[in-house]
Amino acid sequence: MRFIEANGAKIPAIGLGTWELRSRTCARLVEQALKLGYRHIDTAQVYENEREVGEGLRASRVRRDDVFITTKIWTTHFAPNDLERSTKDSLTKLRLSEVDLLLLHWPNPHVPLAETLGALAHARKLGMTRHIGISNFTVALLDEAISLCPEPLVCDQVEYHPYLDQTKVKEACARHGLALVAYSPVAKGRIKNDQTLARIGQTYNKTAAQVCLRWLVQQNVAAIPRTSRLERLSENIDIFDFALSDEEMRDIAGMGSPKGRLTDFGFAPKWD
Ligand SMILES: NC(=O)c1ccc[n+]([C@@H]2O[C@H](COP(=O)([O-])OP(=O)(O)OC[C@H]3O[C@@H](n4cnc5c(N)ncnc54)[C@H](OP(=O)(O)O)[C@@H]3O)[C@@H](O)[C@H]2O)c1
Repeated sequence: MRFIEANGAKIPAIGLGTWELRSRTCARLVEQALKLGYRHIDTAQVYENEREVGEGLRASRVRRDDVFITTKIWTTHFAPNDLERSTKDSLTKLRLSEVDLLLLHWPNPHVPLAETLGALAHARKLGMTRHIGISNFTVALLDEAISLCPEPLVCDQVEYHPYLDQTKVKEACARHGLALVAYSPVAKGRIKNDQTLARIGQTYNKTAAQVCLRWLVQQNVAAIPRTSRLERLSENIDIFDFALSDEEMRDIAGMGSPKGRLTDFGFAPKWD
């Protein structure tokens, strides 16, 4: 496993996304993923599966210290007291004393960012999390967060895959020493039939999804693909035994557009 290092954090480059994985399916996939060598699990309060993520972690018998667990605070809990209380709830559900990374899930313009970031940093001081970060922050909001946060932030988790050009956010993360963590890294499965990725994959005996994930990791980006299928758990982590050429990296980057976003929850910030 490769790690992405950022402001003191060592983030395993491939993690398991768990959005929409529920109940026993979620616990079983987390357990299997860890048994297969995953060391990074991504959950969130709003996914309503923190309990099952904790169950899967314990069932895997992998040492707690060897696994990087991220959870995210939902926007309705951004007032300082709510943030602390809801983080405690998350830890109770996960049955953990701390997570590795605690993120603000989306920007919330209705609560002053300085207050929320102060509370997030305080949660770290209290030992509830080893690292803190943000998610879905635009470049402008990221710059603002850096200037307001009393403790170092380690990542911005944003949508990123070959169809979405994220050069600006990537550059902003690099400027501030943050990792970019890519969500929807296989474009919600749409890369499966991509001819360019499949053609490149033939050279290495890899699938389009593996080429896509390799392309992300080779840019020093962490990726958290989700799958509900056991065979794809293995496929998505089997990307560390080949390297794309500079030309292949450029060809894949050329497929992206600033308008390639797949996620629109209606309350998203203005990205451009
Ligand atoms: N911070 C945020 O606001 C935010 C937003 C969205 C997501 N996330 C996080 O990022 C994770 C990943 O994003 P995502 O779930 O939106 O999308 P994704 O991981 O890009 O795509 C998941 C979809 O792709 C399919 N898939 C997975 N591996 C595949 C492979 N090797 N070949 C073909 N299809 C494959 C899965 O189907 P099968 O199940 O059939 O394999 C599933 O339908 C989430 O689970 C969540 O943890 C965060």
